[in-house]
Amino acid sequence: MTKTLFVLNGPNLNLLGLREPEIYGSDTLEDVRKACAEAAGRHGLALEFRQSNHEGVLIDWVQEARTAAAGIVINPAGFGHSSVALLDALLASGLPVIEVHLSNIFRRDTFRQHSYVSLAARGVICGLGLKGYALAIEAMASLIA
Ligand code: DQA
Repeated sequence: MTKTLFVLNGPNLNLLGLREPEIYGSDTLEDVRKACAEAAGRHGLALEFRQSNHEGVLIDWVQEARTAAAGIVINPAGFGHSSVALLDALLASGLPVIEVHLSNIFRRDTFRQHSYVSLAARGVICGLGLKGYALAIEAMASLIA
């Protein structure tokens, strides 16, 4: 049976391409979706790609993934630095989680250098832009094979 991978994106990532391009680059969220679709297809995975600006919506999707997905790739955006509730949902999912950030959060503000989500993540990729998502999907494919 085809396994499904949830790729979840947090707040303000709908503005990719417009938002602080000197930090996040010129790729749009649609470009990210296409790169994810390509990577998922290459590994025979079905892709569920979503973005929300709302913490509760992201938590609902993580809970949905418990029964609907084999793994979660998540760019929690700002919620990574603030949300214990998102961490709890990811821990409760029992699924392998890979965290992605487009920018290198360790070269930025001190408050960005801690992520609650990392406590639930098997791996973290940051600083590689859109390519980080494709790498995360490749790694997830072997984790759930
Ligand atoms: C981000 C990094 C976060 O610190 C920031 O709040 C974001 C995007 C990234 O992809 O680089 O919104 O997750």
